[in-house]
Amino acid sequence: MDKIEITGGKSLNGKIRISGSKNSALPILAASLLTEEKISVSNVPNLSDIFSMLELLKSLNVKINKRKDKIDLTSSTPRSLLAHYDLVRKMRASFLILGPLLARYGKAKVSLPGGCAIGNRPVDLHLDGLERMGVTFKIEDGYVTGSIDGRLKGAIINLNKISVGATENLIMAATLAEGTTIITNAAQEPEISDLSKLLTRMGANIKGFGTKKIVIYGVKKLKSCSYEIMPDRIESGTYILCVFGCGGIVKLENVNNEICNHLIKIFKKLKSLQLKKNDNGKNLLIKKKKDSELSLIVKTKEYPGFPTDLQAQLTSSLLKTKGRSEIVENIFENRFMHIGELIRMGANVKQIGSKVIVKECKKLRGAEVMATDLRASSCLVIAALMADGKTTINRVYHLDRGYENLEKKLKLCGAQIKRVKS
Ligand code: EPZ
Repeated sequence: MDKIEITGGKSLNGKIRISGSKNSALPILAASLLTEEKISVSNVPNLSDIFSMLELLKSLNVKINKRKDKIDLTSSTPRSLLAHYDLVRKMRASFLILGPLLARYGKAKVSLPGGCAIGNRPVDLHLDGLERMGVTFKIEDGYVTGSIDGRLKGAIINLNKISVGATENLIMAATLAEGTTIITNAAQEPEISDLSKLLTRMGANIKGFGTKKIVIYGVKKLKSCSYEIMPDRIESGTYILCVFGCGGIVKLENVNNEICNHLIKIFKKLKSLQLKKNDNGKNLLIKKKKDSELSLIVKTKEYPGFPTDLQAQLTSSLLKTKGRSEIVENIFENRFMHIGELIRMGANVKQIGSKVIVKECKKLRGAEVMATDLRASSCLVIAALMADGKTTINRVYHLDRGYENLEKKLKLCGAQIKRVKS
């Protein structure tokens, strides 16, 4: 397993090109199952989660032609509508093929994704919504088998909990349903809007995406189109927090206005951080001013609140800040696996239930640490960049799930970072 070695204590100065969004690309790739015509997607990030999704789609008879960040996908009737445990367990977003398969073929057998490091990750909202659209489910041997005679039926679905994945699965299913589907208490993440724009370009009729109430008027068929994936807002936020923690001036390239406005809003309490967008949000200039005392209370919330996917990175970026901050995780039940590793670096952090208290640490030291999940591993990168001495991060396959060329991007900004292949 590869490791990453970082010698910290340097500020970051330079430019970083932001890659396409992982959490937009994954549902968009799954949407190729909704039509027999070719879908061409560009700005797709080179990530292991993307390869896992492509492997799964190939097993479902989707012909894939990948050239750098461009992927053509043509889905023909698969020999079997089975998404095997070996493929699904690697990446929970595989469950997003359920809605498209049921919409296109009226049946599907998908392995339950199971839990992961950050929580038990149930899928009841996906299944309840699809049941309201007429699907009958059977759960046995760790698989969920769904079927319906004929087309899915439009339905009124109220999600009793805001869920990104359930919203995405149900939108995709509803595009080919007979009649109208209304989803209330829908997730509003920009990645859902990106998926909806792709589906609209394929001929779907969707209104209200990006709001809590989405209305989908089912159509008979969807067609070929080309689409460019939006930039990754979590990657962007991660690099902003790298600069906040280490100091320096960095320009993020290939972002967009919506992402810049969102990030400027969620980071406005970080007084010594200056964010300035230019070229109508295509670029975002990050500048760390002189450190000042700061005591924050930040609670993670569904979009447009503070993203749970930046919670760990915010914690590490505050490790050397004078003051006392509280960070509360409200979305997942176990998203603090990084705390123990930060403490091993001398960090003054304490977890109390769903809250972490962060106080100034004058001597943050490099250490041998272990990545446990995707965002925890990027949090360890930030801490390592801030610490004195060398840090070795083990199990960086977690990092490779969601950050394209991270070492190259940081090295270009002056970080002393290298990957040790094993
Ligand atoms: C998506 O996961 C993202 N993944 C996650 O990013 C992100 O953390 C999460 O949304 C929240 O923003 C992708 O988009 C591929 P949810 P998802 O359904 O869809 C509960 C990353 O780091 N829930 O919005 O799985 C669930 O347990 C990843 O890039 C149910 O109870 O998240 C959680 O507490 C990690 N029943 C809450 O809802 C359900 O049927 C939000 O989960 C579904 C979810």
